[in-house]
Amino acid sequence: MLIRRPTPLVDRDVTDRRLYLGRREFLRNSAWTLAGTATAASALAACGPSEEASAARESVSARVRPLTDVRPAPPRFRVDDPVTDRTDATSYNNFYELGLGKEDPAENADRLKTEPWSVVVDGEVGRPGRIPLEDLLKPHPLEERIYRLRCVEAWSMVIPWIGIPLADVLARFEPTSKAKYVAFETLLDRENLPGQRRNVLDWPYREGLRIDEAMHPLSLLAVGMYGETLPPQNGAPLRLVVPWKYGFKSIKSIVRIRLQETEPMTSWNESAPNEYGFYANVNPKVSHPRWSQAKERRIGSWSKRPTLPFNGYEEQVASLYTGMNLRKQF
Ligand code: MTE
Repeated sequence: MLIRRPTPLVDRDVTDRRLYLGRREFLRNSAWTLAGTATAASALAACGPSEEASAARESVSARVRPLTDVRPAPPRFRVDDPVTDRTDATSYNNFYELGLGKEDPAENADRLKTEPWSVVVDGEVGRPGRIPLEDLLKPHPLEERIYRLRCVEAWSMVIPWIGIPLADVLARFEPTSKAKYVAFETLLDRENLPGQRRNVLDWPYREGLRIDEAMHPLSLLAVGMYGETLPPQNGAPLRLVVPWKYGFKSIKSIVRIRLQETEPMTSWNESAPNEYGFYANVNPKVSHPRWSQAKERRIGSWSKRPTLPFNGYEEQVASLYTGMNLRKQF
C-alpha cells in the first residue's frame, strides 16, 4: 500500500504477485508436464520457495500452538468459498512493521515479541485499564469463522479465523454514551520491528471504527487461524477482522483500544486521504485513484473475479450506512 515514500501498492507489487501466483500454480498444477526435462528441473529450482522463506515457515510453526475448545460459528459467519491454502495466508502478508515486501513479515516473524502481552482499554468507558491478554480472553468462548479478506490492493483470500466478537469484549468495559468511535493501536517497538525504523507511516499503526461498526456481530477480535494461534506475520497475538472493509482496517498486534467521541485519525487515511478513506468499505464501484476495484484476484487462483459490494456482506451491513454517500465517504 505504500504511498508517500513508497506507496501502498505499486505496479511492482502486482507484478511480483503474478510471478508468485505463477510459481505456486505452476508447482501445484503443472509439475507433471515438466518432470523429467532439464528445463523443467531448472524452472522448478528457480521457482521454488527461497531457503529463507522455508526457514521462516519452520520458525513460524514453533511460534504457534493448537487452539482447543473452539466452536464453529453459525452459518452466517462462514462463507462457502474454498479456504485459502495456509501456506499462502502465512507467507504473503501485509505487515509493514515487519517489512514492506510480501514475504518479509514471515521472514522477520521472530522480531515480534508477543509474550507477555497486555491491552489498554481506555477513553469513554466505565472500567478503563490495562488488562493482560489471558484475562481479556478468559470469559469468552472461542469460535471459528470463515471470512473473505479483501485487500485494497485487489487480491483476496478466505481465512478460517478463530476469535471472539469485538462487541462482547467492548461491553465488558462499559462504554459511556459518549463512545461514538473505537480507535485501535498496534505495538510500537522500534528496537525490534524493522519497519518502524522506516518513515513509511506515522507509527504506531492506527485504525478505527464507528461504534456501531465495532458492535456489529461480524466484527471479530482474532487470536488464531487454521486451528492454531496467530503467527506473528498475521498479527499475533490479537488482531481485528472486519470482513466487509478493505484489509487495512483489520489492524494487527493490538495493544490499545480507545473509545472516544470523535473520529480517530487512522494511519492510511492520514498518509493518503485521497486514496484511503476512514470507512474503506469494499466497493467495486469506487476505484482506487491508481487502479480499479471492480475485480479481484483470489490468492491461489489465476483468474479474476468480480469484487462483491461490502465484500459479499451487503445484506448484513448495508443498513449501517443508510443515507451516506459511500462514493464521497469512502
Ligand atoms: N496491521 C498493521 N499493524 N500493520 C500493517 O501493515 N496491514 C494491513 C492489515 N493490518 C497491516 C495491518 C493490510 S494492508 C492488510 S491487507 C491486512 O493486514 C493483511 O492481513 P494478512 O497479512 O493477515 O493477510
